[in-house]
Parts: sequence; structure tokens; C-alpha cells
Amino acid sequence: MRVLIIGGGGREHALAWKIAQSPMLTKLYIAPGNPGTGQLGENVPIAATDITGLAVFAQAQKIDLVVPGPEIPLALGIADALAAAGIACFGPTQAAAQLEASKQFTKHICDGAKIPTAAWAGFTDATAARAYLATHPAPIVIKADGLAAGKGVVVAQTNAEADAAITAMLEDNIHGSSGASIVIEECLTGTEISLFAICDGDTAVFCGTAMDHKRVGESDTGPNTGGMGAIAPPPAATPTIIDTAMATIIRPALAAMTARGTPFRGVLFAGLMLTATGPKLIEFNARFGDPECETLMPLLATDLLPLLAEAATGRLNPATSLIWHSDSAATVILAARGYPGAYEKSAPIDLKGVKASPDTQIFHAGTTYDGKTLRSHGGRVLAITATGPTLRHAIHRAYRAVEAIAFPGGFYRHDIGARALLTSEGEGIDRSVQ
Ligand code: AMP
Ligand code: GLY
Repeated sequence: MRVLIIGGGGREHALAWKIAQSPMLTKLYIAPGNPGTGQLGENVPIAATDITGLAVFAQAQKIDLVVPGPEIPLALGIADALAAAGIACFGPTQAAAQLEASKQFTKHICDGAKIPTAAWAGFTDATAARAYLATHPAPIVIKADGLAAGKGVVVAQTNAEADAAITAMLEDNIHGSSGASIVIEECLTGTEISLFAICDGDTAVFCGTAMDHKRVGESDTGPNTGGMGAIAPPPAATPTIIDTAMATIIRPALAAMTARGTPFRGVLFAGLMLTATGPKLIEFNARFGDPECETLMPLLATDLLPLLAEAATGRLNPATSLIWHSDSAATVILAARGYPGAYEKSAPIDLKGVKASPDTQIFHAGTTYDGKTLRSHGGRVLAITATGPTLRHAIHRAYRAVEAIAFPGGFYRHDIGARALLTSEGEGIDRSVQ
């Protein structure tokens, strides 16, 4: 198969790393890719937002399967453009990608399919939103309807914070048209995990769970980021929780999307809150998580490529069950100082101190290479993943590699996985599913 991966971050490097191991692969392109993906396939200088350029390239190069990594090309309709050109795409159409691109859309799907989620109401008018607050006091969650690069959610602990979020989104338009419509929803409590399913429109195959670390600071403080690290599998993701989430959230959502004429193909990523009354949906994403993907790929024993091809062409076998290594994995993000605010670019990075080992992968997220020096280029710069027989081993190995990297312009969280370790040790976790 001739494959084109779209994107240039850590998630796409991890996908390229896994797909490059497939015996079915004959040629791998990554657009635009990064110095890490360039070692596994051929990078092509086409932006992930250049839908026409990507479709023309895929046709000219007789690509058999396109795998979009980020949400942006999906929201811009890459799957539709490729379908028109007769090229298989492992990702949803623009209409199906609304499960990520519009929170109100997803809430309506949840209501129609009786999917457990936080109680909610939608608003475009600030006065009406404030009136709702009078009967639904804080803690309460205010969300911009559209894509807002992870910055569109305010978990308000006080009514004043909720009021300020309504003003910012509906009156000051801080998120532009993405925040012109908002969702106000019940604040859920519990352990938060991410669950992934590979979908072909009708069939969903469970594809792992992970736990992200979204805040920039230790002990989950400071502003939200794309994710500062992840572990997998989370100790809380028991087989019962997974079965319940697949049966009450993933499969009903897939059926509802098909019923309305917009079947969902690709990765359905459910952000779940494990509440006292069972798993509830926080949000859907229409793609793999980043850095969750970097954490999951080294744990996956099954060849990913045929599965993605089957899903893209509506041929997934419902009996498919992925095989996982029995290890745990941890990913630590090395970020550029200042991230998620303004950050320095072009700081040199030296990886020579890291010993090559099968249990540790350095995935490139925001780097450039000029033939001599590797330099930082994005906010999240490297995603260091290690596996080990226990979560504690995996975390230890990941940090050993992080400490061996010379990157004076960078920083990282020192407590990735600490929360999961607190709940896992001494509890005899059943790991039979992953
Ligand atoms: P989202 O962008 O929807 O993933 O939201 C960002 C973060 O806000 C989530 O990862 C949760 O930690 C938190 N969050 C979102 N919705 C809720 C909710 N209804 N209750 C509690 N926390 C929430
Ligand atoms: N790490 C969270 C996300 O990819 O949305």
C-alpha cells in the first residue's frame, strides 16, 4: 500500500513509526511531516490545511490510503475531497467531523441516542445564558461551541467566573465565530480517561485507553495545553468500564451518525468522566489524541495499517479485537519555555545522550533540522515515550530519556503518571483487555 499521513506533530510521527512496521506498506509519505517522520518515509512540503494540494498529490502519487492526523484537515473536508477523487481516507467527512467541531451538534446526538453526558443547554444570547446560571449555579462548565485549540472550555468554580466566561465568549467574542454559540453544562466529577475506537461507519473496534495531562503545571495547575504527557492504560480503565463505554457511548453515537446520513469513519476519541453512576461523555474528538497516540502506538502489537484500510473502506470485521503488549507506557512532552503562551523557537536540541533502546521512542513534535542542528520549532517539541512491565517502570524510563536530552530552551512536567500510580499500586489491576 502507498500511504500518505497528514500532519507534522508527535501523533503523526507515532503513526508513521507504527505504519512503517507494516509488511503491507510499500511507500510512506508524510505531509508536511517533521525530522522524525523523515527518517521513516518521505516528507512532502504540503500544509495539513491545503486540502486541494493534498488531494492532487494523493491522486498523482496513486495513494491507496490517506491517514489524516489532526482535526483541521477533517473539519476542512479532506475526506470529502479524497472521496471525490476516489481515494480511501481513514477519517470522517466534514459532516461527520462535527462530532468534534461542534459541541452543540454532539449534545444533540447524545440526547437523541440517550448517551450519558452532562446535562446542558445551548445559548447564543448572553442575557439568556445568565438567566440559566441563576437556576444552575457554579460549579458549572461554559464551552465555546466550535474548535478553539483546547482553550474553549471554562470550568467555573464561582458564578462570577461563569459570568465572565459568558461575557468573554458571547459579548467580547474572544474565540470569534467558534464562541458565538456556547454550551453550558453540569460539572461532572470523577477520573478522566480517553477512549479510542476505530470505526468504519457501522462497526467500532476498541483501540485503547489513555490518560492525558492537559495542564501545563505540576499537580494539574496553570493553563490548559494540547497535553503535556500521557500514560496508558489508565488503571481506572477496567474491562467493565471499557465494555460499558463502548456499549453506551461509542456504538450508539456511531448508529446515530449513520441514521442521520453522516456515517463516521476514522478514530472516535471519547473523553470520558468515570462518575459514580458510570462513564459519561465529556467530548468527542474525530482523531487520535496527541500525545495519547504516542503512548498507545508502542503498546499495540496488531498491525495497524490493514485495520485503517478496512475502516476507510467500510470493511471492518466486527469480531476484530486488537492485541496489546502487556506493558504500560508513559509519554513525557518536552515543550519550549513559555508554552502554551508565546515561546522561543530555534533553540538547539541534542539527542546524542539518549541510548537507543527498543523500550524508548523519541517522537518529534515541533522540530526542524537543517542538516546539522536539530532545533525547536513548535510549542510541544518532543514526545518521549517509554514502555515497561509496570507503569512505574515506564515512567522511570521515560524520565531517564528526557534527562539525557540536552534542550536548554525546554521544560517538562515532572509528575506525568503520578496520579495514575496513586490509584494503581496494590490494587491488582486486571490488564487482560490491554
Ligand atoms: P474539552 O475541551 O471538552 O475536553 O474540555 C477540557 C477539559 O475541561 C476536560 O478535559 C475536562 O477536564 C474539563 N471538562 C469539560 N467538561 C466538563 C464537565 N462537564 N465537567 C467537568 N469537567 C469538564
Ligand atoms: N491530548 C488531547 C487531544 O489530543 O485533544
